[in-house]
Amino acid sequence: MSGGARVVLGVTGGIAAYKAVEVCRRLVDAGCHVSPIMTAGAGRFIGETTLSALASEPVRTSLWDEDSPIPHTKLGQGADVVVVCPATARLLADYASGRSADLLTATLLATRAPVVVCPAMHTEMWEHPAVQDNLSTLRRRGVTIVEPESGRLAGGDVGHGRLAEPQRIVDAVLAKLTPNDLDGLRIVVSAGGTREPIDPVRFIGNRSSGKQGHAIAAAAVRRGAEVVLVTTQAASAPSGPDVRAVETAAQMRDAVVDAAAEADVVVMAAAVADFTVAEVADSKIKKAGGVPVLRLEPTVDILAELGSRKRPGQTLVGFAAETDDVASNARSKLEAKNADLVVANDVSAAGVGFEHDTNAVVIHSAGDALEVGFSTKAQIADRILDAVVAHRLRSPGSSNR
Ligand code: CTP
Repeated sequence: MSGGARVVLGVTGGIAAYKAVEVCRRLVDAGCHVSPIMTAGAGRFIGETTLSALASEPVRTSLWDEDSPIPHTKLGQGADVVVVCPATARLLADYASGRSADLLTATLLATRAPVVVCPAMHTEMWEHPAVQDNLSTLRRRGVTIVEPESGRLAGGDVGHGRLAEPQRIVDAVLAKLTPNDLDGLRIVVSAGGTREPIDPVRFIGNRSSGKQGHAIAAAAVRRGAEVVLVTTQAASAPSGPDVRAVETAAQMRDAVVDAAAEADVVVMAAAVADFTVAEVADSKIKKAGGVPVLRLEPTVDILAELGSRKRPGQTLVGFAAETDDVASNARSKLEAKNADLVVANDVSAAGVGFEHDTNAVVIHSAGDALEVGFSTKAQIADRILDAVVAHRLRSPGSSNR
């Protein structure tokens, strides 16, 4: 997986260079070792210190670094993937014509790793036949081009040529590092905390941000699965899955059960309310009416319902967000809900669970408990999917279609 994968990040001189900083941070968060290279032009837009501070090693800028006589071959040969972000028209021309003008272009020629190029420039330059010819040449040679988008450009202009959003670039890089081990599988992931309405303005909710579920859905797409993501946080959903936006436990139940009918794997990462308000007020409850008494009634336990009618070959993954007796509660849920795996986290620990970008979990299965220490939610997502793959290999009738 991306854990420890060596990514060379080349940054050239365009205003979008500032977005390379975010791409760098996200790649490091995903567990990559990022070696940055800046061209002289890039140095006019962002500081070396910024990138050095966020990458896994200091920025290199020159073919003539004192510590290494041939940095381009070292970087090029050691890379698992090389990404150029942003790529100017000059970089495209140099790379397409095989000109080794500086450390970055020399590295691009020296590497045999997959290359991802993310162009960004003004619309007129992007549309120029010379630029398009260079792109065609690179595509023909197997280079992945992350197409620019339309939107605001430097100088207040609006048009095509704006650098792709950082997450699209990160996804394209990670896709080069990822095995296609979920190819052919249909996976449903639920994410986020449900909201149970009290009246038109108020609801009962919980602290779930949906981040862990979204990370699982994104990782499953990268690994080749067809993914349905049922989420209460659709605005922050990753690109790739088929996103179904829901709000209440009842809506989540209907969307998950519907998608699960065709699914090989269901991952219930959502924090589903256990109780909902029995009588929802049609209009706003007024203070003057006194302290209201809310009668609650139970919601359907979606995971338990799926567990009670699990198809042969279907894998069910639940979560257990606990504050006490984490392991024993998780194992009880595994059994009570007929799940195959339960991912337990102690949400009272620092930096773990709700709202954080990090987590620490134990993945329980019938005969095993696998501890995944403090990591980013993206890394935890891959470990959970690894556990799903391992479980399916052990279970007869659970192969990829
Ligand atoms: N879950 C569900 N439907 C519900 C409640 C929970 O599908 N109505 C799922 C969650 O998505 C999670 C697992 O069940 O995968 C465990 O959820 P959790 O809230 O930890 O436990 P509960 O079963 O609700 O029990 P308790 O709140 O008492 O710990």
